[in-house]
Amino acid sequence: MSAASTWPLRRHGHQRDCGAHGAVRAACTPVGVARTRRRAGKCGLFAHAGRRCRAPRVAAMTSQPEPARTDPSASVPVPASAPAPGSDSDSGSGSAPAPFPGAVPPASLPGAVPAVPGPVSRSVSLDLTGRTALVTGAASGIGRACALRLAAAGARVRAVDLDPEGLESLADEVACEAGPSAPAVDLRLLDLTTPAGLDAAERAADGSDVLVNAAGRQLVRPLEEFPPEEFRAMLTLMLEAPFRTTRGALPGMYARGWGRITHISSVHGLRASAYKSAYVAAKHGLEGLSKTTALEAAPHGVTSNCVNPAYVRTPLVERQIADQAEAHGIPPERVVADVLLADSALKRLLEPEEVAEAVAYLCTPAASFLTGCALPLDGAWTAH
Ligand SMILES: NC(=O)c1ccc[n+]([C@@H]2O[C@H](COP(=O)([O-])OP(=O)(O)OC[C@H]3O[C@@H](n4cnc5c(N)ncnc54)[C@H](O)[C@@H]3O)[C@@H](O)[C@H]2O)c1
Repeated sequence: MSAASTWPLRRHGHQRDCGAHGAVRAACTPVGVARTRRRAGKCGLFAHAGRRCRAPRVAAMTSQPEPARTDPSASVPVPASAPAPGSDSDSGSGSAPAPFPGAVPPASLPGAVPAVPGPVSRSVSLDLTGRTALVTGAASGIGRACALRLAAAGARVRAVDLDPEGLESLADEVACEAGPSAPAVDLRLLDLTTPAGLDAAERAADGSDVLVNAAGRQLVRPLEEFPPEEFRAMLTLMLEAPFRTTRGALPGMYARGWGRITHISSVHGLRASAYKSAYVAAKHGLEGLSKTTALEAAPHGVTSNCVNPAYVRTPLVERQIADQAEAHGIPPERVVADVLLADSALKRLLEPEEVAEAVAYLCTPAASFLTGCALPLDGAWTAH
């Protein structure tokens, strides 16, 4: 399958009942949901296997008691019945919302100091019924959390990524969460570093009311060793692609008099770190793109903002550990505390769902005057 193909990979939304999609139905079992999430990279180095892999509905769907599982990254067994992140508030049951597991047990992150309690999942009230949201990088991490969040708010989601398996599992999860009434997820398998992928992404953005640019990657390398072709590819992915999707989305947003553009920038859009030249350059450029968009789009009811997270518990960060260890000459187990969390006053990793909640807030009427901004989710990193 060509990664630059523009055709929808697969449409989801009503398959659970149509009888022709056994795979989707299988994924809607507790085991299937866990497998789906594992495929999406949620069970790696930092993931608390028993805790991260419970889909909101897993507990409710599990009829047999499960044995306690040992979290490989923690020193204590995690009860299989531990509550899902934010599952109470997700279900709208009215009971007290569950804290994020992002209130990380201190022992679970090598070198991390005691964590501060996290916020709750999906506490922002948002109705995007009838709206279309395009999310890049939707197969994993922050983009995936944003796609799930916007789908939960009722949006039709167009999901762009180069990872077909991750896209499929996203669609499965949306179908599992929202059931047969869920709007279809429109999957677009695109490589946003190629001319064909950029062209297709611009076309895909046409007709979207909400645009979230999350696709990204990282390489940690001293400047003199940084491969020029990788520098170019990272700027294409994290700066040119957001330009192209913005370009594709704006005419329709202007015509409808409403639009919400959010770029997943980074604390590195506001601050530099050594060995991250391409990433820092791309994210600083993204801040400029967003501000310029905000100025041009304001008369049309369209806002443009950046969200600027510090380190988020995603595969992108997991992949950085070894790189950072080598660059700084320290063992991997010291990277989290000594490097990743060094500048943050809050000594824990952020959860992808917390970033998605900020994106959701930016889509609410309450945020309609908020444009051209950088919204740091950085534990006071930039307070320095
Ligand atoms: N994880 C963090 O600590 C962190 C912090 C601040 C900002 N961010 C930003 O958040 C965004 C998402 O990062 P994440 O941590 O969720 O990473 P991730 O690796 O979990 O997800 C990135 C997604 O982008 C997709 N992608 C990569 N290259 C692509 C390409 N050429 N074409 C299409 N899709 C492509 C990947 O397949 C993946 O699904 C990135 O822009 C990143 O810079 C991450």
